[in-house]
Amino acid sequence: MSAKFITFEGGEGVGKSTQIRRLVSNLSKHGVEAIRTREPGGTPRAEAIRSFLLQGKSESWGPSAEAILFAAARLDHVNSMIKPNLQSDKWVLSDRFHDSTRAYQGLTGGVPDELIDALESLALNGITPDLTILIDMAPEQAFERVRKRAEEDGLNLPPDRYEKENIEWHRHLRRNFLDIARAHSDRFIVVDGAQTADDMEQDIWTKVQDRFEQLAA
Ligand code: TYD
Repeated sequence: MSAKFITFEGGEGVGKSTQIRRLVSNLSKHGVEAIRTREPGGTPRAEAIRSFLLQGKSESWGPSAEAILFAAARLDHVNSMIKPNLQSDKWVLSDRFHDSTRAYQGLTGGVPDELIDALESLALNGITPDLTILIDMAPEQAFERVRKRAEEDGLNLPPDRYEKENIEWHRHLRRNFLDIARAHSDRFIVVDGAQTADDMEQDIWTKVQDRFEQLAA
């Protein structure tokens, strides 16, 4: 299978969705058809679990039950969306995937490794991302960006399930993502989220081209 599966990871508000859109467009200029998806979500069943989780309805169940719900959503996403698209030669770019469960519920939320490992082998069902792009950024800076964007858009949304955790929690999350990236350095590239969106786009594109020979300039 030559189509690639690329995931984007990072804390809250680091700019993943903008960069995914730009990578889809850069790939398309090189004749590569890529589709964008997200987690939790990406299929109607997984989107139903998403709204339950992100409205905080599962919070009282505790992080282990939440990890199981994220994995249930992922299993459907893998089987009915990601695998079929890869098989029909479309690249798949996902805004978050299994590393988010390990970082949020596992290392930051305290869910034991054994449960996270078991959920991973169950939900991934034999696939692993070919590449994971971690956008690393200080949470203070990311939250400031989110606040500015909301102000510009005239939005005043209440924080969702994880946005409302305190700054120390988000610093811990950032360190945990970096630890995961170090432990899987063959799969990850880490990009600096403090650069401008244009610089980040160029940085990511150069690294993606280096990684996959079919994209060589
Ligand atoms: P979303 O609004 O998509 O946030 P972001 O733009 O930061 O990606 O919400 C997804 C939230 O769900 C985000 O707070 C991270 C969290 N999450 C987990 O805790 N575990 C997971 O396995 C996944 C996929 C997401």
